[in-house]
Amino acid sequence: MKDYNFKLHWNKAYKNSDKENLGWFENDITESFKLIQKCELSKSSIIFNAGAGESLLIKKLQKHGYSKIIINDISDIAIEKLKSSLDTINGLNFIIDDLTNPFELLKIEEVDLWHDRAVLHFFINLKQIEAYFNLLKQKVKSGGYVIFSEFALNGAKKCCGLEILNYDNNMFQNNLGDDFQLIYTYNYLYTQPSNGNTRKYIYSLFKRK
Ligand SMILES: C[S@@+](CC[C@H](N)C(=O)[O-])C[C@H]1O[C@@H](n2cnc3c(N)ncnc32)[C@H](O)[C@@H]1O
Repeated sequence: MKDYNFKLHWNKAYKNSDKENLGWFENDITESFKLIQKCELSKSSIIFNAGAGESLLIKKLQKHGYSKIIINDISDIAIEKLKSSLDTINGLNFIIDDLTNPFELLKIEEVDLWHDRAVLHFFINLKQIEAYFNLLKQKVKSGGYVIFSEFALNGAKKCCGLEILNYDNNMFQNNLGDDFQLIYTYNYLYTQPSNGNTRKYIYSLFKRK
């Protein structure tokens, strides 16, 4: 699977399916939102959502007064669908780019929060992982936060037809380095809305010194 084309793969997934039928879609984004609230960010903070897909998180953040959100995905189809689901795109910055081979993403300002649900675990080559974490370290402010929500060590081995890398906190920490401190973590069992199947996730919140 090492040579597959991320963009084609994900565009096909979003083109061929309503969001409710995607194996990662959440009707309820409470878990991410709970962790975001723990960060006690000001409403003018800059939030970066990596591989946002059609997540309802953006709408929820807008509703709670956060308006400076950078929304990334490699799939332009996902971004178009997400945009058309929002009442306003004021303050939002949409960036279609590859987290593992960034170009446009290199130009974004530093962020107060980096949020990644079910994206990092698709990067299974060392080069991809290094590129992702280099970008993250370049873009998260000192005192900023990082939220990861990925398939746990004892979780599923594939998603959307792709192999994934299962995570625990040591793996996050090793990639982040000593500059980041784990401040909250738990396991969570996600239920797919379309068929009731479950997936084991680990949720972790890190703060940069
Ligand atoms: C499993 S989905 C999760 C979507 C969203 N975070 C959520 O929780 O609903 C993975 C997302 O990552 C995006 N993605 C995959 N590879 C990417 C890459 N290299 N750069 C940016 N986005 C990527 C996909 O298009 C897809 O939207």
